[in-house]
Amino acid sequence: MDIKDVKKVVVAGGGVLGSQIAFQSAYMGYDVTIWLRSEGSIGRCQPKIDRLHKIYLDTLEAMKTDPRAYAYGLVAKEECTPEKCEALKANVEAAYKNLKLVTDWDEAFKDADYVIEAVAEDPQQKKDFYTELQKHLPERTVIVTNSSTLLPSTFAEYTGRPEKFLALHFANEIWKMPTAEVMRHAGTGDEAFELTVAFAAAIRMVPVKVQKEVPGYLLNSMLVPFLSAAMGLWAAGVGSPEDIDLAWKLSTGAPNGPMQILDIVGLQTAYNISIMKPEAKQPGTIQNIIATRLKEKIDAGETGVNAGKGFYDYTK
Ligand SMILES: NC(=O)c1ccc[n+]([C@@H]2O[C@H](COP(=O)([O-])OP(=O)(O)OC[C@H]3O[C@@H](n4cnc5c(N)ncnc54)[C@H](O)[C@@H]3O)[C@@H](O)[C@H]2O)c1
Repeated sequence: MDIKDVKKVVVAGGGVLGSQIAFQSAYMGYDVTIWLRSEGSIGRCQPKIDRLHKIYLDTLEAMKTDPRAYAYGLVAKEECTPEKCEALKANVEAAYKNLKLVTDWDEAFKDADYVIEAVAEDPQQKKDFYTELQKHLPERTVIVTNSSTLLPSTFAEYTGRPEKFLALHFANEIWKMPTAEVMRHAGTGDEAFELTVAFAAAIRMVPVKVQKEVPGYLLNSMLVPFLSAAMGLWAAGVGSPEDIDLAWKLSTGAPNGPMQILDIVGLQTAYNISIMKPEAKQPGTIQNIIATRLKEKIDAGETGVNAGKGFYDYTK
């Protein structure tokens, strides 16, 4: 299939990410349906769409006068004039008006050209979803998963079309964080891979090609060990959060150091990842010290930027 033949996009799951992917695709002119499991899920999804409608309008308004408000997903930088931002509000209104939320499998999928799965991060629930999906989907349709941690090969056979199945991984707040990691499994065909690269670009994301399966894609394959090394230096008392960050920022020119990034990610997530390592259970290992010290901060309510305090104090 050619990207020109992709007209109807269906996003399965309308949670945090599903609602964003659907809204961005509709904003870029696709005919978008969000498939949801139940009427209750529609009730939970609609406020997310209402919120995105407002965020897109507010961002376009802010971009007229404030360069710091620029969001890649909304318009190319060289086209970002006040007149263009005003005109693009019509695309936001059209997206808001045209997005369909449905629970019926056939209504959603029978003429879908491209399906993006964004249901809960639970392997069994995803397998059950794909098993049912293939009964309702045209043979030609490409399916991608937005899973953050699960490999596409885990699900390929359940889709009934391994060669037309791969991962397309977005980052939260996609209108301003435009990374789209396109990751194939060993059985993904070139056509589906290239179509997905083209689709990501067509919805104003920046496609990044991941040619082999790896848990964590490109970004997290680098970021997790980097953050882990920084936490090790902190937990072992080698350097303070400020000095660890300074060492990194001064020598690389990066705007944030690892401890600042950890505050943004949230220390609960950092802790959850740190205790997955078997050494975290062995007293005396650096992993165990990291987990213990993170736990102390979490118990004190210092979980990062959202809490007002993490490695840094954001209340001042
Ligand atoms: N939140 C993030 O920052 C983020 C970033 C990138 C990728 N992802 C991935 O996106 C996917 C969705 O994450 P999210 O944060 O939007 O989750 P979420 O919990 O906000 O939303 C999940 C959606 O799936 C639906 N759902 C749950 N169980 C289902 C089932 N059995 N069948 C059908 N639908 C079901 C829910 O009703 C909801 O609409 C996950 O695979 C996650 O790893 C999340």
